[in-house]
Amino acid sequence: MENSIMKKRLWLCVLLILLCFHLGGCMGNKSKKRIVRIGHNQSTSHPIHIALTAFQEYVNENLPDQYVVEVYPSELLGSQTDMVQLTQTGAIDFCVASNAILETFSKDYEIFNLPYLFASTQAYHHVMDDPAVTGPIFYSTKKAGFLAVTWLDAGTRNFYTLNRPIESPEDLKGLKIRVQQSPTNIEMMRLLGGSATPMGFGEVYTALQSGIIDGAENNEMALTDNGHGDVCKYYSYDMHQMVPDILIGNWVFLEGLSEEEQAVFEEGFQIVNRVEREEWVKAVEHAKERATQEQHVTFLYPDQKPFVEACRPLHNKVLSRNPGLQTIYEAIQSYNQQYPSSAETLSIQARE
Ligand code: GCU
Repeated sequence: MENSIMKKRLWLCVLLILLCFHLGGCMGNKSKKRIVRIGHNQSTSHPIHIALTAFQEYVNENLPDQYVVEVYPSELLGSQTDMVQLTQTGAIDFCVASNAILETFSKDYEIFNLPYLFASTQAYHHVMDDPAVTGPIFYSTKKAGFLAVTWLDAGTRNFYTLNRPIESPEDLKGLKIRVQQSPTNIEMMRLLGGSATPMGFGEVYTALQSGIIDGAENNEMALTDNGHGDVCKYYSYDMHQMVPDILIGNWVFLEGLSEEEQAVFEEGFQIVNRVEREEWVKAVEHAKERATQEQHVTFLYPDQKPFVEACRPLHNKVLSRNPGLQTIYEAIQSYNQQYPSSAETLSIQARE
């Protein structure tokens, strides 16, 4: 009940903002500049915001008579799902969405949500940088009105809990764990034995604080930037997923760009990717230090094998219901062979 009132209020806010956009747009017409709106759900000190600000500066400087880029952080335009819908219809032009929620718009995105898909960070980065692998997936939402223009590193996802250290999948039994709103994540939690509680990112802190959930799973930034480490005291490096964030753009907007504009935007997307990845490395290091020293979070390094084993059936399940993903899956495996890393090495990497 309270939830539906909150939702109505949120949508009212979004509608008001859009009305302001419209009025702003009309005034903008006088100067003939097109306002480009980008939404995301992170804070202004997060690598995503820093990268999008670099994009904003680049486009504004290089197409000064045509465009003004505006970046809206912190779910100002709604949750990621709301923002993807706004991007679909062209109410806004771009947003950052986790790969996890994109699988509800195109099943092909399921592949990058698979637990233990990548053998190492290097394999993950090479896969995501290879247009032969990502291209078919990034274009798979064309009919839905948008496409992916670049990917962003969101590190590895691990479990963290209020007060029960997770050393093995058995420790997850009976715990309500928040997962992203994706069928693959719900299935993953089921295989690991926990009780999946899907919800939007913005609701997680309150749910943890009020004890509605016992824990969540995310990268280290969630502890500090989103305050989850104020309430959750155990963070376990089981490293179950490397789920990228994706910058998506409205298809009609992108199609309507002239050749010159397209070149500037394309360079801008490369800047987003480069800056975000550079910032990410520093941000994670800083988050770990802060979580340890200021929030007194204990970092645990469990044996990953039982987690890997429990999740294994999901790979075949996803591939058998979407056989079109098989070639992509094989390409990923060959990157895994080229850039292997044992479970132990992964734990050591995490500790460093
Ligand atoms: C990460 C990711 C976000 C996502 C969030 C979540 O922070 O970068 O895009 O929304 O996880 O768990 O929902």
